[in-house]
Amino acid sequence: MKAIEIKKDIYWTGVKDWNLVEFHGYLTPRGSTYNSYLIMDEKITLVDGAKHYLSDEMVARVKSVVDFSKIDYVVVNHVEMDHSGNMPVIMKLAPQATILTNAAGQKALSEHYDTEGWKFQIVKSGDSVSIGKRTLTFVTTPMLHWPDSMVTYVKEDKLLLSNDGFGQHYAADSIFVKDLALDVVCEEAKKYYANILFPYGMQAEKAVDGLGGLDIEMIAPGHGCIWSGKKEVETIVNLYNYWASGQNKGKAVIVYDTMWGATATLANAVMEVFQDAGIPVVKRCLTHTHISEIIPDFLDAKYVAIGTPTLNNEIFPRVAGFVTYMKGLKPKNKKAFAFGSYGWKPGVVNQIQKVYEELGWETIPPFEEKYTPKSDVVERLKEHVKTMID
Ligand code: FEO
Repeated sequence: MKAIEIKKDIYWTGVKDWNLVEFHGYLTPRGSTYNSYLIMDEKITLVDGAKHYLSDEMVARVKSVVDFSKIDYVVVNHVEMDHSGNMPVIMKLAPQATILTNAAGQKALSEHYDTEGWKFQIVKSGDSVSIGKRTLTFVTTPMLHWPDSMVTYVKEDKLLLSNDGFGQHYAADSIFVKDLALDVVCEEAKKYYANILFPYGMQAEKAVDGLGGLDIEMIAPGHGCIWSGKKEVETIVNLYNYWASGQNKGKAVIVYDTMWGATATLANAVMEVFQDAGIPVVKRCLTHTHISEIIPDFLDAKYVAIGTPTLNNEIFPRVAGFVTYMKGLKPKNKKAFAFGSYGWKPGVVNQIQKVYEELGWETIPPFEEKYTPKSDVVERLKEHVKTMID
């Protein structure tokens, strides 16, 4: 396993997790990577680690350039275990190294691992550490998406080591975006933002603003491919600006499940109203579509309609799972509507309505129908949905 030089004397020493199909509830059909970077300067610096089960591969890549006993610094940008899982291995191989991290990073490391004997140098946002010809500057990005999250900027190389930010769960034949289909990488970056960073739009906006003052010609994230080249860097920064702003493209998303087709009939009627109004609409049935595949639609949606059947006097479990997941990701600025069907006891749609209200969304009253909706009910529903369209 060899390291790959991404800039003069700066190497990618990460690993590709080709077989990853799921990342804490998020489907990853294109796998992922855990990227670490090795900077060969007067003070040799390793930035970030890898998941524990791919540690051997990462260690081999580092060793293809330098022995661990020569490493001076290990930067920990973020302690989530996809980046720090092999820190015990790294620190065993390089006990002489000093860990550069922020106070929250040190605390989180000590809460994950036995850090007895590990040397720490705590950095604050804006602090710089000279490693010889280069200076590393650390910018903390708290709650983007953990309290410890930070990025490392290498001024001399105009290089941003951004950890989770700008990442994608994507194992590809190249580690550079420029060698790949840009739309595929952007799709994965969008899915990553929606499923991981969506709740932290304000922090993302602030972080992207803060990075605006930096001269960046390469963004090397902790997952997926490296944005090198003006076009690639501009593309992802513009996308982050848009996603973090909370703006949308005025689209509609309908999410539902169905038992005997009644809620599906209602979902079709709702879709027709949006289509007739010339509003781009997607309809996602939870029987066939995973929750993590649907959330990216919310980045572009102004209108949300969620429909559920009633099962044992409760919201249908797959819809409940989706609503819980969506609530945690806190999409903003939506106009929403809940609909559904029931057999003998109405009311479960109010659970969806309550979530809309907790999210601070604008709503119209929910709509429920007993058993199979007849044509007059469908027409009544359509008239109701029209009232939510601007
Ligand atoms: Fe890629 Fe938050 O860890």
